[in-house]
Amino acid sequence: MMTKEITITASAKVNLFLHVTGKRADGYHLLDSLVAFADYGDLIKTEESDKISLDIIGEHAASLSGFPIEENLVWKAAIALQNYAAKPLGAKITLEKRLPVASGIGGGSADAAAVILALVKLWKLDISEHKLSVIALSLGSDVPVCLYGKPALMRGIGEEIIPISLDKPYIVIVNPNIPLATADIFRESDFKPLLRSDDNKEIRQFSSKNLTIENGYRNDLENTAIKQLPVIANIIASIKETKGCFLARMSGSGATCFGLYDDKVMAQKAAEELKNQYPQAWCINSVI
Ligand code: C5P
Repeated sequence: MMTKEITITASAKVNLFLHVTGKRADGYHLLDSLVAFADYGDLIKTEESDKISLDIIGEHAASLSGFPIEENLVWKAAIALQNYAAKPLGAKITLEKRLPVASGIGGGSADAAAVILALVKLWKLDISEHKLSVIALSLGSDVPVCLYGKPALMRGIGEEIIPISLDKPYIVIVNPNIPLATADIFRESDFKPLLRSDDNKEIRQFSSKNLTIENGYRNDLENTAIKQLPVIANIIASIKETKGCFLARMSGSGATCFGLYDDKVMAQKAAEELKNQYPQAWCINSVI
Protein backbone atom coordinates (compact mmCIF):
# COMPACT_ATOMS: atom_id res chain seq x y z
CA MET A 1 0.00 0.00 0.00
CA MET A 2 1.31 3.48 -0.86
CA THR A 3 1.91 5.79 2.07
CA LYS A 4 -0.50 8.68 2.12
CA GLU A 5 1.27 11.98 1.60
CA ILE A 6 -0.03 15.55 1.69
CA THR A 7 2.06 18.52 0.56
CA ILE A 8 0.94 22.12 1.12
CA THR A 9 2.66 25.38 0.17
CA ALA A 10 3.14 27.75 3.10
CA SER A 11 2.87 30.98 1.13
CA ALA A 12 4.84 34.08 2.09
CA LYS A 13 2.59 36.63 3.81
CA VAL A 14 2.95 40.27 2.82
CA ASN A 15 1.53 43.15 4.87
CA LEU A 16 0.56 45.66 2.17
CA PHE A 17 -0.06 48.07 5.03
CA LEU A 18 0.28 47.66 8.76
CA HIS A 19 -1.26 50.22 11.11
CA VAL A 20 -0.81 49.93 14.85
CA THR A 21 -4.09 51.09 16.38
CA GLY A 22 -3.49 50.51 20.09
CA LYS A 23 -1.86 48.42 22.79
CA ARG A 24 -3.45 45.81 25.06
CA ALA A 25 -2.77 45.58 28.78
CA ASP A 26 -0.64 42.46 28.15
CA GLY A 27 1.69 44.44 25.86
CA TYR A 28 0.41 43.03 22.54
CA HIS A 29 -0.34 45.63 19.88
CA LEU A 30 -3.66 46.03 18.12
CA LEU A 31 -3.33 46.08 14.37
CA ASP A 32 -5.18 47.01 11.23
CA SER A 33 -3.29 45.33 8.42
CA LEU A 34 -4.00 44.30 4.85
CA VAL A 35 -2.43 40.92 4.26
CA ALA A 36 -1.96 39.13 0.94
CA PHE A 37 -0.06 35.99 -0.02
CA ALA A 38 2.65 35.48 -2.63
CA ASP A 39 2.53 32.56 -5.00
CA TYR A 40 5.76 31.31 -3.40
CA GLY A 41 6.56 29.82 -0.02
CA ASP A 42 7.92 27.01 2.09
CA LEU A 43 6.70 23.48 1.44
CA ILE A 44 5.22 21.27 4.14
CA LYS A 45 5.03 17.55 3.40
CA THR A 46 3.26 15.18 5.78
CA GLU A 47 3.31 11.38 5.51
CA GLU A 48 1.72 8.64 7.58
CA SER A 49 3.91 7.49 10.45
CA ASP A 50 3.46 6.11 13.95
CA LYS A 51 5.10 9.12 15.64
CA ILE A 52 5.62 12.81 14.98
CA SER A 53 8.98 13.71 13.40
CA LEU A 54 10.21 16.87 11.68
CA ASP A 55 13.00 17.19 9.10
CA ILE A 56 14.02 20.61 7.84
CA ILE A 57 15.62 20.86 4.39
CA GLY A 58 16.09 23.53 1.70
CA GLU A 59 17.73 26.89 0.97
CA HIS A 60 17.14 28.43 4.42
CA ALA A 61 17.24 25.26 6.55
CA ALA A 62 20.68 26.17 7.95
CA SER A 63 19.25 29.32 9.62
CA LEU A 64 17.18 27.04 11.87
CA SER A 65 19.95 24.59 12.74
CA GLY A 66 20.63 26.22 16.13
CA PHE A 67 17.01 25.98 17.30
CA PRO A 68 15.65 22.94 19.12
CA ILE A 69 13.08 21.20 16.91
CA GLU A 70 10.49 21.40 19.76
CA GLU A 71 10.58 25.20 19.46
CA ASN A 72 9.73 25.18 15.76
CA LEU A 73 6.16 26.36 15.15
CA VAL A 74 5.60 23.36 12.87
CA TRP A 75 6.37 21.00 15.73
CA LYS A 76 4.23 23.03 18.16
CA ALA A 77 1.32 23.05 15.69
CA ALA A 78 1.52 19.28 15.23
CA ILE A 79 1.57 18.70 19.00
CA ALA A 80 -1.35 21.10 19.52
CA LEU A 81 -3.45 19.15 16.98
CA GLN A 82 -2.38 15.82 18.45
CA ASN A 83 -3.47 17.09 21.90
CA TYR A 84 -6.80 18.17 20.43
CA ALA A 85 -7.29 14.70 18.93
CA ALA A 86 -6.31 13.20 22.30
CA LYS A 87 -4.75 10.23 20.47
CA PRO A 88 -1.08 9.40 19.85
CA LEU A 89 -1.33 10.21 16.12
CA GLY A 90 1.91 10.37 14.16
CA ALA A 91 3.26 12.00 11.00
CA LYS A 92 6.59 12.28 9.24
CA ILE A 93 6.77 16.00 8.53
CA THR A 94 9.26 17.59 6.14
CA LEU A 95 9.64 21.37 6.02
CA GLU A 96 11.37 22.70 2.92
CA LYS A 97 12.49 26.15 4.07
CA ARG A 98 12.48 28.36 0.99
CA LEU A 99 11.70 31.64 2.82
CA PRO A 100 14.23 33.52 4.96
CA VAL A 101 13.55 33.23 8.71
CA ALA A 102 12.57 36.08 11.08
CA SER A 103 11.86 38.26 8.08
CA GLY A 104 8.37 39.76 8.37
CA ILE A 105 6.78 37.52 5.74
CA GLY A 106 5.38 35.06 8.22
CA GLY A 107 7.51 32.06 7.31
CA GLY A 108 7.06 30.30 10.67
CA SER A 109 3.39 31.29 10.87
CA ALA A 110 2.70 30.11 7.31
CA ASP A 111 4.46 26.82 8.10
CA ALA A 112 2.33 26.34 11.22
CA ALA A 113 -0.87 27.05 9.26
CA ALA A 114 0.17 24.68 6.45
CA VAL A 115 0.97 21.82 8.82
CA ILE A 116 -2.39 22.30 10.57
CA LEU A 117 -4.20 22.03 7.21
CA ALA A 118 -2.13 19.02 6.14
CA LEU A 119 -2.55 17.11 9.43
CA VAL A 120 -6.30 17.75 9.63
CA LYS A 121 -6.50 15.93 6.26
CA LEU A 122 -3.91 13.25 7.01
CA TRP A 123 -5.49 12.44 10.37
CA LYS A 124 -9.07 12.97 9.08
CA LEU A 125 -9.86 15.18 12.09
CA ASP A 126 -13.36 16.49 12.58
CA ILE A 127 -12.56 19.94 13.97
CA SER A 128 -14.52 23.18 13.76
CA GLU A 129 -13.12 26.29 12.07
CA HIS A 130 -13.45 28.10 15.38
CA LYS A 131 -11.35 25.51 17.22
CA LEU A 132 -8.76 25.63 14.42
CA SER A 133 -8.45 29.40 14.71
CA VAL A 134 -8.09 29.17 18.51
CA ILE A 135 -5.22 26.69 18.06
CA ALA A 136 -3.76 28.92 15.32
CA LEU A 137 -3.81 32.07 17.50
CA SER A 138 -2.23 30.18 20.41
CA LEU A 139 0.77 29.53 18.11
CA GLY A 140 1.25 33.15 16.98
CA SER A 141 -0.64 36.29 15.94
CA ASP A 142 -0.08 35.73 12.20
CA VAL A 143 -1.10 32.07 12.14
CA PRO A 144 -4.91 32.65 11.82
CA VAL A 145 -4.50 34.86 8.74
CA CYS A 146 -2.06 32.34 7.24
CA LEU A 147 -4.66 29.62 7.85
CA TYR A 148 -7.16 31.75 5.91
CA GLY A 149 -4.55 32.17 3.15
CA LYS A 150 -6.35 34.76 1.00
CA PRO A 151 -6.29 38.58 0.99
CA ALA A 152 -7.74 39.84 4.27
CA LEU A 153 -7.76 42.61 6.79
CA MET A 154 -6.22 41.43 10.02
CA ARG A 155 -7.38 43.18 13.17
CA GLY A 156 -7.08 42.80 16.93
CA ILE A 157 -3.77 41.05 17.47
CA GLY A 158 -4.56 38.78 14.54
CA GLU A 159 -7.71 36.99 15.68
CA GLU A 160 -10.07 39.07 13.57
CA ILE A 161 -9.88 38.16 9.87
CA ILE A 162 -12.03 40.12 7.42
CA PRO A 163 -12.05 38.71 3.86
CA ILE A 164 -11.52 41.39 1.20
CA SER A 165 -11.15 41.58 -2.54
CA LEU A 166 -7.89 42.82 -4.02
CA ASP A 167 -6.45 43.04 -7.54
CA LYS A 168 -3.51 40.72 -8.27
CA PRO A 169 -0.38 42.83 -8.81
CA TYR A 170 3.04 41.35 -9.50
CA ILE A 171 5.39 41.57 -6.56
CA VAL A 172 9.13 41.69 -5.98
CA ILE A 173 10.24 40.67 -2.49
CA VAL A 174 13.69 41.54 -1.14
CA ASN A 175 15.17 40.46 2.18
CA PRO A 176 18.72 41.51 3.18
CA ASN A 177 19.22 38.07 4.74
CA ILE A 178 19.55 39.61 8.20
CA PRO A 179 16.93 38.49 10.76
CA LEU A 180 14.95 40.99 12.87
CA ALA A 181 13.12 39.95 16.06
CA THR A 182 9.42 40.90 15.92
CA ALA A 183 9.19 41.41 19.69
CA ASP A 184 12.11 43.91 19.65
CA ILE A 185 10.61 45.94 16.82
CA PHE A 186 7.21 46.20 18.54
CA ARG A 187 8.80 47.04 21.89
CA GLU A 188 11.05 49.76 20.52
CA SER A 189 8.40 51.47 18.41
CA ASP A 190 6.86 54.59 19.84
CA PHE A 191 3.34 54.66 18.41
CA LYS A 192 1.36 57.84 18.08
CA PRO A 193 -2.39 57.56 17.62
CA LEU A 194 -2.07 57.59 13.83
CA LEU A 195 -5.40 55.92 13.16
CA ARG A 196 -6.80 56.44 9.71
CA SER A 197 -10.37 57.64 9.81
CA ASP A 198 -11.53 54.51 7.95
CA ASP A 199 -9.56 51.97 9.99
CA ASN A 200 -12.62 50.83 11.84
CA LYS A 201 -14.95 50.77 8.85
CA GLU A 202 -15.62 47.61 6.94
CA ILE A 203 -14.05 48.39 3.59
CA ARG A 204 -14.02 45.12 1.66
CA GLN A 205 -12.63 46.14 -1.69
CA PHE A 206 -9.08 47.35 -2.09
CA SER A 207 -7.01 48.41 -5.06
CA SER A 208 -3.28 47.99 -4.47
CA LYS A 209 -2.73 51.22 -6.45
CA ASN A 210 -4.52 53.23 -3.72
CA LEU A 211 -2.45 51.98 -0.81
CA THR A 212 -0.01 54.89 -1.01
CA ILE A 213 1.45 56.90 1.85
CA GLU A 214 -0.36 59.94 0.41
CA ASN A 215 -3.62 58.10 1.07
CA GLY A 216 -2.52 57.45 4.64
CA TYR A 217 -1.45 53.79 4.24
CA ARG A 218 1.91 52.85 5.80
CA ASN A 219 3.80 50.32 7.86
CA ASP A 220 4.07 51.69 11.41
CA LEU A 221 6.99 49.37 12.20
CA GLU A 222 9.13 50.61 9.31
CA ASN A 223 10.95 53.47 11.10
CA THR A 224 11.97 51.33 14.07
CA ALA A 225 13.15 48.53 11.79
CA ILE A 226 15.19 51.07 9.76
CA LYS A 227 16.82 52.35 12.98
CA GLN A 228 17.96 48.78 13.70
CA LEU A 229 18.87 48.00 10.13
CA PRO A 230 19.43 51.11 7.97
CA VAL A 231 19.81 49.03 4.78
CA ILE A 232 16.00 48.62 4.81
CA ALA A 233 15.66 52.31 3.80
CA ASN A 234 18.13 51.78 0.93
CA ILE A 235 16.28 48.69 -0.26
CA ILE A 236 12.90 50.48 -0.24
CA ALA A 237 14.44 53.42 -2.16
CA SER A 238 16.04 51.04 -4.70
CA ILE A 239 12.75 49.16 -5.20
CA LYS A 240 10.93 52.48 -5.73
CA GLU A 241 13.43 53.41 -8.45
CA THR A 242 12.81 50.27 -10.51
CA LYS A 243 10.74 50.80 -13.63
CA GLY A 244 7.02 50.10 -13.23
CA CYS A 245 6.98 50.01 -9.42
CA PHE A 246 3.93 51.78 -7.99
CA LEU A 247 4.35 50.91 -4.31
CA ALA A 248 7.40 50.01 -2.20
CA ARG A 249 7.22 49.27 1.53
CA MET A 250 8.42 46.98 4.33
CA SER A 251 6.35 43.92 5.32
CA GLY A 252 5.51 43.00 8.92
CA SER A 253 8.27 43.77 11.41
CA GLY A 254 10.88 43.54 8.63
CA ALA A 255 13.39 43.29 7.27
CA THR A 256 11.65 42.07 4.09
CA CYS A 257 10.58 44.82 1.66
CA PHE A 258 8.40 44.55 -1.41
CA GLY A 259 7.49 46.40 -4.57
CA LEU A 260 4.26 46.11 -6.56
CA TYR A 261 4.03 46.20 -10.38
CA ASP A 262 1.32 45.98 -13.03
CA ASP A 263 3.61 44.32 -15.49
CA LYS A 264 5.13 40.85 -15.14
CA VAL A 265 8.22 41.55 -17.29
CA MET A 266 8.94 44.78 -15.41
CA ALA A 267 8.71 42.88 -12.10
CA GLN A 268 11.10 40.22 -13.43
CA LYS A 269 13.56 42.88 -14.60
CA ALA A 270 13.29 44.74 -11.28
CA ALA A 271 14.07 41.51 -9.40
CA GLU A 272 17.17 40.97 -11.57
CA GLU A 273 18.38 44.55 -11.01
CA LEU A 274 17.82 44.31 -7.26
CA LYS A 275 19.68 40.99 -7.08
CA ASN A 276 22.66 42.67 -8.77
CA GLN A 277 22.43 45.69 -6.48
CA TYR A 278 22.13 43.60 -3.28
CA PRO A 279 24.07 40.39 -3.98
CA GLN A 280 23.76 39.23 -0.34
CA ALA A 281 19.99 39.62 -0.37
CA TRP A 282 17.26 37.08 -1.05
CA CYS A 283 15.01 38.27 -3.84
CA ILE A 284 12.08 36.74 -5.72
CA ASN A 285 9.36 37.91 -8.06
CA SER A 286 5.87 36.49 -7.87
CA VAL A 287 2.23 37.49 -7.88
CA ILE A 288 -0.05 38.08 -4.88
O1 C5P B 1 2.65 36.43 17.96
P1 C5P B 1 4.07 36.44 17.55
O2 C5P B 1 4.85 35.27 18.10
O3 C5P B 1 4.28 36.62 16.09
O4 C5P B 1 4.67 37.75 18.21
C1 C5P B 1 6.02 37.91 18.59
C2 C5P B 1 6.10 39.08 19.57
O5 C5P B 1 5.82 40.33 18.90
C3 C5P B 1 5.11 39.03 20.71
O6 C5P B 1 5.62 38.29 21.79
C4 C5P B 1 4.93 40.50 21.07
O7 C5P B 1 6.00 40.94 21.87
C5 C5P B 1 5.05 41.20 19.72
N1 C5P B 1 3.74 41.44 19.10
C6 C5P B 1 2.98 42.52 19.53
N2 C5P B 1 1.75 42.76 18.94
C7 C5P B 1 1.30 41.94 17.96
C8 C5P B 1 2.07 40.86 17.52
C9 C5P B 1 3.29 40.62 18.10
O8 C5P B 1 3.38 43.29 20.40
N3 C5P B 1 0.11 42.19 17.41
